[in-house]
Amino acid sequence: PEMISIHDLAEKMKIQPSVIIKKLFLAGKMVTVNSELDFEAAGELAMEMNFDPVPEEKEDVIAKMLEDSEDGAETLVPRPPVVCVMGHVDHGKTSLLDAIRDTHVIDREAGGITQHIGAYVVTINGQKITFLDTPGHEAFTAMRMRGANSTDIAILVVAADDGVMPQTVEAINHAKAAGIEIIVAINKIDKPSANIERVKQELTEYELIPEDWGGSTIFCPVSAHTHEGIDNLLEMILLTSEVLELKANPNRRARGLVIEAELDKGKGPVATVLVQKGTLHVGDPIAVGSCHGKVRAMMDDNGRRVKEAGPSKPVEILGLNDVPNAGEIFVSPETDKEARAFAETYVKESREKLIEDTKLKMSLDDLYSQ
Ligand code: GTP
Ligand code: MG
Repeated sequence: PEMISIHDLAEKMKIQPSVIIKKLFLAGKMVTVNSELDFEAAGELAMEMNFDPVPEEKEDVIAKMLEDSEDGAETLVPRPPVVCVMGHVDHGKTSLLDAIRDTHVIDREAGGITQHIGAYVVTINGQKITFLDTPGHEAFTAMRMRGANSTDIAILVVAADDGVMPQTVEAINHAKAAGIEIIVAINKIDKPSANIERVKQELTEYELIPEDWGGSTIFCPVSAHTHEGIDNLLEMILLTSEVLELKANPNRRARGLVIEAELDKGKGPVATVLVQKGTLHVGDPIAVGSCHGKVRAMMDDNGRRVKEAGPSKPVEILGLNDVPNAGEIFVSPETDKEARAFAETYVKESREKLIEDTKLKMSLDDLYSQ
């Protein structure tokens, strides 16, 4: 058969049909228990929901390697919020970051289109905020697969003259699935065709309801061009971050995420990483995915050399033997030997996982022939 009903799929996955219905609803599809999904959609959904029809599950060695013990409450100190700017193409994500930083990041981009995830730290009244510019959601998807979150607060940029668009909805779904706090920035309010009320109205459909309409989402009308509302947005970020009580232990081996990485002709592999816990120092061994090395040099977001980087700090690092994937977790073991062993195990396990996944795909096919 080519189709399977939600009811039957739920039964095979041993979950409630409502779980599937809700999942599809959040993806923008209205279905009932009797709705039918085609083979491909059902398979994808089952995999997305981590359904594993292979009876005995193999131990996930990589996950085990990446396991981390909780830091004791007494070791935790406040850390800056990590904020990502998400939204539809051309709604002004880069311009907004630019306005916030009051620099001209956009001028350096070919054609004004974001090529990389940039990471910047902004200091407002002595308080730091780390911003990430996101061209796509791939890195976020990778991070979530590892159960890691890069950000605390998402700024959802919606152009006041354009309203909610497909990637706006995608961004909302990603942020919600990751449990990230959303602040809405209605941008381009300087435009004559701007319609703030319409954007608010459209977003209510996604459970983003402004406070003045009885909801709990912060809406900030802004203009990246005139800078109107930017200070208010920053205040709202700091306010939200205060409520979240973000903390980390700076006195331990560093751990964090790769934001972006590339091969530089002169410098070799260069990775922009976000330290999430602990402090990374020049000279520390480091392992990330199949790559390992020793931190040879570190640069902050202003291109200045730094010797160490604590929680919520993005830095560019040199010294890896290869280019890691965006979204991977990096660890900093005590010794070079451990870093190398980590990378070697990662390579071996990834290969085995690929074989397992192929098997999983094949057994998903069985779902429909039963
Ligand atoms: P991608 O990275 O390509 O997805 O785009 P983006 O969301 O980063 O948008 P970007 O900042 O590149 O802005 C897109 C266009 O909108 C540019 O032409 C900006 O000049 C314009 N723009 C951005 N913010 C504003 C604003 O507040 N007012 C007006 N009038 N135009 C704006
Ligand atoms: Mg951009």
